[in-house]
Order: sequence, then structure tokens, then C-alpha cells
Amino acid sequence: MTRPNRLTELDVHLTAADAEAALRADARAGLTADPKELPPKYFYDARGSELFEEITELPEYYPTRTERALLEESVAAIAEASGADTVVELGSGSSAKTRLLLDAFRAAGTLRRYVPQDVSEAALRGALDALAVEYPDLALHGVVGDFTKDLTALPTGGRRMIAFLGGTIGNLRPAERTAFLAHVRSVLEPGEQLLLGTGLVIDEPTLLAAYDDTAGVTAEFNRNVLHVLNRELRADFLPEAFSHVAAWDAEHEWIEMRLRAEKDMRVWVEELDLAVDFAEGEEMRTEISAKFRPAGVREMLAEAGFDLGRWWADEDRRFALSLATAV
Ligand code: SAH
Ligand code: TRP
Repeated sequence: MTRPNRLTELDVHLTAADAEAALRADARAGLTADPKELPPKYFYDARGSELFEEITELPEYYPTRTERALLEESVAAIAEASGADTVVELGSGSSAKTRLLLDAFRAAGTLRRYVPQDVSEAALRGALDALAVEYPDLALHGVVGDFTKDLTALPTGGRRMIAFLGGTIGNLRPAERTAFLAHVRSVLEPGEQLLLGTGLVIDEPTLLAAYDDTAGVTAEFNRNVLHVLNRELRADFLPEAFSHVAAWDAEHEWIEMRLRAEKDMRVWVEELDLAVDFAEGEEMRTEISAKFRPAGVREMLAEAGFDLGRWWADEDRRFALSLATAV
């Protein structure tokens, strides 16, 4: 395909074969665990990425629009303070909000290159196609990859800022989160920056509504992981026989997303040669979305070797953006 922007590349660091092998291993481990569990990155096939975009527009889903407003407020100062020539974004999805950042960096006159990384090749291709038209002079270097595995695929040289938005850090378990931040720190040079978006701990009804909307889009998104298993592993899940559950875990301060079997079922997973029994009412965990307290954000950044410079939060303290420097 010819692109209007000659500076666009796409590196596939996660080949279809690697992704397939990872899915098999993760599905086997998760479906035979007690309680059963599936890792969240498998939500995001082409359909899952589309459903997530729909979630970002739901009236109940406040994180996206809150983070967007925080970016509007802060990008000029961020670009000014950063001086980065390369913006790397992990879990970039449609890169919708990132345009605010790119515009501010461009206005500051330093930006040369944008490097979006996502596990969803479909989302990444869509984003790159649009960005190539909108930013004809910007070098665009997409990376299909798993940010919990290989950050080494990211470009070296220049002055970089890594953006990790959307509160996606909350989708990692505490041990994974610590390892992830340490890894991010290890690929940066002292003085380079991390821009981190985090959901904050707020009242339970607002949180629960954001993860269980009345239109049922989040429920469909949650069940999408079963469609992925049916297609990729030739499983015979009946997605409609599972209902969406969102619960607030006050001890861990995270939302837990689960799929509840509405009847006794035996599911056959052809590619794994595996039968999986579900009892009526059994719940399988599909995702967590941890929320943070300001002190906790500062602490997790400090433990990973980052100095929290500036911080922006909305009036209602629902969401925060942190600009941190590698020390
Ligand atoms: N940053 C965007 C999208 C957030 S949704 C926003 O703020 O709106 C989370 C994104 O992370 C999705 O695009 C998903 O495909 C991607 N993702 C999830 N797990 C991933 C992983 N392990 N490695 C890379 N990308 C991942
Ligand atoms: N990063 C998003 C979040 O934690 C992902 C997300 C939004 C999500 N809604 C969801 C994941 C519903 C699973 C189910 O807010």
C-alpha cells in the first residue's frame, strides 16, 4: 500500500505465530486455574479495539474525556519541559488523545518521530494510516508488540518521552506493574521522561458505572475475549451464556471484570485438546483496572527510578497525569 507519508514504518515484533503460541499457553494456564482467569490483552482483536473506542465515548466512561481535558491543560508545559524529539506511546490504540501531545511538541519545534506500540495490529494500522495524512512531516514508526515483554524493540537515540495513557497501567497486576515500570526505566537514559495516566480512587457508584454501562458495550467488550478464543483456538464458548460482572475490590482498590457462566457448561477447546467445565454462577476473571491514590503514584514511580516532576488532576480527582523524569 502506498502511503502519503513516506516516513511511515511498521515493525511487527509480535508475529502471528508468536501471538498464537502466547495465546495457547495463557489460555491453557488460565482455563485450568482455580479460579479461572484470562489475560486482558486478548480483548483487543480488531473488533475488541473498535468496542474499546465505543467505550471511550460512553457517558459513564469518564476516564478518556477526563484525561483528554488534562492533556489539553498540560501539553504545552509538557512539551516545553521535555524537549523530546521522539514520543513513544505504549498501548497507543487509536492514538486519539495523543494528537494533542503531538501538536504541542510540534509547536515547540522539537518533535521528529512518533513511535506507537500496541498489541493490536489492526488498531495500530488504522492509527498510522490516519496519522500519516495528518502529520505528513513526522516520522511514524509503529511497533506491534507486547509492552509487558519487549520494550527493546523501541528506538534508541535522540531524546525520548514514553507516554502510557488511558490508565492502562491499572490493568497490570501489582507484580507485573512493578516489573513493567522497572523495564520502562531501564530502556530510558537519565533525564528522559515518562508521561503516565492513572485513574484515581473515587466513589464506588461512579467507578462501577464506568465499567458496567447501561448500553451494554462494556459487557460486549468483555465477552469479546470468548469470540477470540472461539476463533483462534477453535473453542465452542457460547458468549451469550456468560454475563458481564464488574465489582469493586476495596482491599486492592481495583475494579475486577469477570464473566459469569449462566448455566453449567462444558466448553471444548479444540486447539488445546482441552475440555473446560463451568458451573452455573462460576465467575472467570478477565481484567482488573486498578485505581490509585496520589501518594501511591509518586511511590511507584520513585521505586522504579523516576522522579515525579509535575502532576495534573481534574477537579473531582478522578484521573491524573504524571510527568516523571528518569533519574
Ligand atoms: N491509550 C489508548 C488505549 C487504551 S486501551 C487510550 O488511552 O485510549 C489499552 C490499549 O493497550 C489497547 O489499544 C490494547 O490493544 C493495548 N494493549 C493491551 N495490552 C497490551 C500489551 N500487553 N502490549 C501492548 N499493548 C497492549
Ligand atoms: N484501560 C482501560 C481501563 O482500565 C480498559 C478498559 C475500559 C476495560 N473498560 C474496560 C477493560 C472494560 C475491560 C473491560 O479503564
